[in-house]
Amino acid sequence: MKHSRKLVLICCGSDCKKEGAKGFYKSLKKEFKNQEYKGKYKLIKTHCLDMCKSAPVAVVQDHFFKKVEIEKLLDHLKKP
Ligand code: FES
Repeated sequence: MKHSRKLVLICCGSDCKKEGAKGFYKSLKKEFKNQEYKGKYKLIKTHCLDMCKSAPVAVVQDHFFKKVEIEKLLDHLKKP
């Protein structure tokens, strides 16, 4: 069985949490309920990704986001 959804990993380790990763995760979860993103992405919370100095950190496929902002990540997802 082939997975059609892209994985979006959000680090929720202690340093990322201090930088607002939980709020970021919740906002992104809300965004993913929009028709535009529905069924296309799988949002996953992770433990520390060992890049704490760049917190908050997110990973989409093979792309690392340092000091991630929701607009930046959504712009990346809209790219073909
Ligand atoms: S806590 Fe997020 S990279 Fe370490």
